[in-house]
Amino acid sequence: MSAPALTVTVDGASVEVPAGATVLDAARAAGRWVPTLCFDARQAPFGACRACLVGVEGAAAPLPACTTPCRDGMAIDTEDAAGRRVAHAVVELVLSELPRAPAPHTELAQVARRLGVGEPRWPGETHAPAPPDVRHPYLAFQHELCISCGRCVRACDELQGTFALTATGRGFGANVAAGLDAGFRDSACVACGACADTCPTDAITEVSLLP
Ligand code: SF4
Ligand code: FES
Repeated sequence: MSAPALTVTVDGASVEVPAGATVLDAARAAGRWVPTLCFDARQAPFGACRACLVGVEGAAAPLPACTTPCRDGMAIDTEDAAGRRVAHAVVELVLSELPRAPAPHTELAQVARRLGVGEPRWPGETHAPAPPDVRHPYLAFQHELCISCGRCVRACDELQGTFALTATGRGFGANVAAGLDAGFRDSACVACGACADTCPTDAITEVSLLP
């Protein structure tokens, strides 16, 4: 027996979603855009970045769309002013920590453009600029562009089942290590490329795509 469908309202339009759907699923089913950074539809929701806050009728504050389950009759506002202010600030803060802007084609750059985030207003400490780690023949790490979204680690674990990557450190020391930080080549990496495919900043990318 299939799970009963739920009916929710997204920006005034009624949409039917399966039981278990998230608010982000409903927004996308209704053709509405919600900014996301740590979300990848191929992975279990993580709920870390808070770029996806939306308004939900009756809720005291905006809720993260990627981890909030729909309930029947829910009314969702994808352009909630408070949610968008937080999304703007999250993206601006993330950009302010990078020593250089991510390439225009990256997901982070696209989200920033769509939210109208320009030059960060908070110049200050950034990740230390560093040359790319090119010890692997196909995959390169540009550590300075890592925003600690965890998507590469989850892609390696959940999609590939290889568990080659680990999130390490905190604050400006936060990063991702392959194996015992010996580089991709000496880790369990099978060069599937799932990490590079999901990375929203090109912190992990193909060697051939390095600028
Ligand atoms: S390397 Fe990319 S995908 Fe992995 S945590 Fe950093 S920004 Fe996210
Ligand atoms: S996309 Fe929802 S918290 Fe990151």
